[in-house]
Amino acid sequence: MHSFQRRGKELFCEDKSLTSIAEEYGTPLYVYSHSTVTRHYQVFEEAFASIPHIICYAVKANPTGAILKLLAKMDSGADIVSGGELYRALRAGIEPSRIVYSGVGKTEKEMEDALQSDILMFNIESFTELAALDEVAGRMGKRARISLRINPDIDPGTHPYVATGLRTSKFGIPFEYALEGYDRAAKLPNIDIIGVDCHIGSQLTELSPFVDAVKKLIELITVLRQKDNDIQYLDIGGGLGIPYNTENPPSPAEFADAVKRHLAEANVTLILEPGRSIVGNAGILLTRVLYTKKGKDRRFVIVDAGMNDLLRPSLYDAYHEIAHVVDEERDIEVSDIVGPICESGDFLAKDRRLPRFDKGDLIAVMSAGAYGASMSSTYNSRPLAAEVLVNGQTARLIRKRGSCEDLIRGERVT
Ligand code: LLP
Repeated sequence: MHSFQRRGKELFCEDKSLTSIAEEYGTPLYVYSHSTVTRHYQVFEEAFASIPHIICYAVKANPTGAILKLLAKMDSGADIVSGGELYRALRAGIEPSRIVYSGVGKTEKEMEDALQSDILMFNIESFTELAALDEVAGRMGKRARISLRINPDIDPGTHPYVATGLRTSKFGIPFEYALEGYDRAAKLPNIDIIGVDCHIGSQLTELSPFVDAVKKLIELITVLRQKDNDIQYLDIGGGLGIPYNTENPPSPAEFADAVKRHLAEANVTLILEPGRSIVGNAGILLTRVLYTKKGKDRRFVIVDAGMNDLLRPSLYDAYHEIAHVVDEERDIEVSDIVGPICESGDFLAKDRRLPRFDKGDLIAVMSAGAYGASMSSTYNSRPLAAEVLVNGQTARLIRKRGSCEDLIRGERVT
C-alpha cells in the first residue's frame, strides 16, 4: 500500500494531510513515511531470508539521523563512503560489524576511524588504496578486513552518471586485474581478505546485469578459493531501481530469486547495499507556488524549492511526478515547474502537461526520498529545507529548517 494517497481531494502522508504538515512546518519540506521505510526494508529482508545475508543500507541515499535510526532498529547494516557517513551510522546505532566502507577516495584519517570502530570490511577500489590501508592498519597494530571492488564491465542500462560498473568508470578494479589484486592483498601483513565486491550502477530496471555480475564474481570466488583465499562475503552493491514514472523495476523478491539461483553452491554471506529502493518512494518534497507567468509556449510555475533542494532533475534530467496536494478540476497546461535559483537549469519538471497551478498552491514532488535531501546544498544562500517523518497521524520534525546563521557558520571575516 502506497503511503502517499488521496483522501477526497487531499493528498495524505499516512494519516496526516500534507496541507496541515505544510502549515505547521512551512515549505520547502521533505516529508517521509515511517511505514514505507519500514516496509521496504522488511520486504528486502524477507526476500533474502532463506540465505545468509546482511543488508547494508546505502547511507548516501538519505543520511538523516531519524531515518538511519529507524533502519538501525530493524538491524540494518550500512554501506558508507566517508568518515561523515561512518559518524552518522554509528551515532544512529548501526552495528560496526554490519558496516562496509566503499568509495574510491578514503583518506588515511577515515581509514583510521573505521579501523578503530572495527567495521566489517573495506571495499577497496585501487591497489594504491590497498597499500595505504595496509600501512594505516600496521601503524595502529590492527588488521583490516577487505574485499576488492571488482569492476565487471557490465552495462547496467542506466543514466551514464549513475553507471559505475563499466570499463570506462572510475570505480573498482578492472576484472582482468582482480587476481593480481588479491595476490597483492594476500602478501600484505595487515590485510585479511574476506570478500569480493561490486556495485554496477543505480536505478537498474532489469535483472540481467545483476545476474551477469553475480555469475562473474562467483567464477572469481571459485578461483580465489583454489588459491587458498578465505572468501566469506559476496557484496553485490545496491542499484535496484524504483518506479518514478513508467518504469517497472523487478521487486526485491524477483531480484532475490534471480540472485539466489546462482548462489546455491557459493557458500557465502551475501551483502546488499540498497539505498534508493528503501527510501526513494518513502519521501516527497513539498513546495508552494510563489508566482506564475505566461511564457511563449508554456506556463512557468515558480515554486519555493529549487535545484539546491532537489538536484536530480537538473543534474540527470530525472523525472519526478508533480502532484497537486489539493486536487480540483483544473485546465491542463504545458508547464515548467521552476525554482528561485539564478540558473536556467533550475527546474523540477519541464515541459509537462499538468493541471494548472496558481499562486499559493501546494505541490508534492514525488519519489524524492532518495538523493533528495542528501544532495541538497545552500546555493544562492538558501538555507536547507526542513525534514519531517510521519508515523500514522503524527508528524515529527527530524531536521530543523536551516537558518541564515547556519549559512555563515564557520566563516571568518577578519
Ligand atoms: N553501493 C555503492 C557502492 C554505491 O555507490 C551506491 C550508489 C549504492 C550502493 C546505492 O545504490 P542505490 O541502491 O541507491 O541505487 N545521485 C544519483 C544516484 C547515485 C548513486 C551512487 N551510488 C541519483 O540521484 O540518482
